[in-house]
Amino acid sequence: MSKKRVLSGVQPTGNLHLGNYLGAIKTWVDGQGQYDNFFCVVDLHAITVPHNPATLAQDTSAIAALYLACGVDLNCSTIFIQSHVPAHSELAWLLNCITPLNWLERMIQFKEKAIKQGEDVGVGLLDYPVLMAADILLYEADQVPVGEDQKQHLELTRDIANRFNHLYGKGESVLKCPNPMIRKEGARVMSLADGTRKMSKSDPSELSRLNLLDPPDTIAQKIKKCKTDPIKGLEFDNRDRPECHNLLTLYSLLSGKPKETVALECQDMGWGQFKPLMTETAIEALKPIQTKYAEIMGDPGYLETVLRDGREKATEVANTTLVKVKTALGYSLPT
Ligand code: AMP
Ligand code: TRP
Repeated sequence: MSKKRVLSGVQPTGNLHLGNYLGAIKTWVDGQGQYDNFFCVVDLHAITVPHNPATLAQDTSAIAALYLACGVDLNCSTIFIQSHVPAHSELAWLLNCITPLNWLERMIQFKEKAIKQGEDVGVGLLDYPVLMAADILLYEADQVPVGEDQKQHLELTRDIANRFNHLYGKGESVLKCPNPMIRKEGARVMSLADGTRKMSKSDPSELSRLNLLDPPDTIAQKIKKCKTDPIKGLEFDNRDRPECHNLLTLYSLLSGKPKETVALECQDMGWGQFKPLMTETAIEALKPIQTKYAEIMGDPGYLETVLRDGREKATEVANTTLVKVKTALGYSLPT
């Protein structure tokens, strides 16, 4: 039996942080051997909010290099850039025409981001989840590893696939319905400045997140300044101590120690003892990623080859699905 297919992506907007790594990329890497994987840098999504044309291309390659640096293995995974495969835009248009407007207006992420943009909010931001559905459905993905915040978009993708099949499938399933793959711990990494808010690329404060490429002294400074509480003795799962839960979770995931081990180790600690330990653990965990990243960025020809091969493989799979969809919709195909 052939391996199940995985597809996921990250936007090239800003630096990747621990939320992106622990919520998404680490899940890709940990499970990749069992699957046939496609990982894209979703640069078409990046322009749904104001972006900088002068850095878009560079930011996009940097994310692809980070995928490799985090351990994505080209023996079982394909890395490519979304905008290099035109089928993504084309399928998004076709799916737009069968997606009810009110399905999109309900999306929490749209509502949150739209508020920030006020009157200027673009159609692209509303349509973002349809493009994401196209990304996933083109590759007939069985599993989509994402952080908790993307769950609603995955449900929408399933709804769109089912609606398409119902309307145009003539009893067959043209589009494959994907399943979300959301890890138990790390699916929602919280801000270092407020344990009740998600760690996010768009938070104006750099102190709220640890970035994968932060140098050791920046990591040390951010952890030194991160929000804690006045209680001695550290614990998981106390609702009144969200920062404590978040920091212990990060420590557990970055050190590779199980939750129970960390709970015992830290039960009598104060913050003065925990913070240096956390700092050292974060620096050590990120060091191999940073070293590999520097190596890859030092050899631009290598990255170009990876992305060219990726584009070829992705195009072949994506175009096959696109032909199926266009045929089901009744289009004549060019001869
Ligand atoms: P984005 O930065 O929005 O492109 O997100 C890329 C991936 O990282 C998605 O799978 C998100 O669900 C995941 N992600 C983003 N922020 C967090 C967070 N704070 N905790 C866990 N996962 C996250
Ligand atoms: N919307 C996702 C995010 O912000 C990024 C994304 C775009 C994605 N297309 C995707 C994730 C397809 C998984 C699969 O994180």
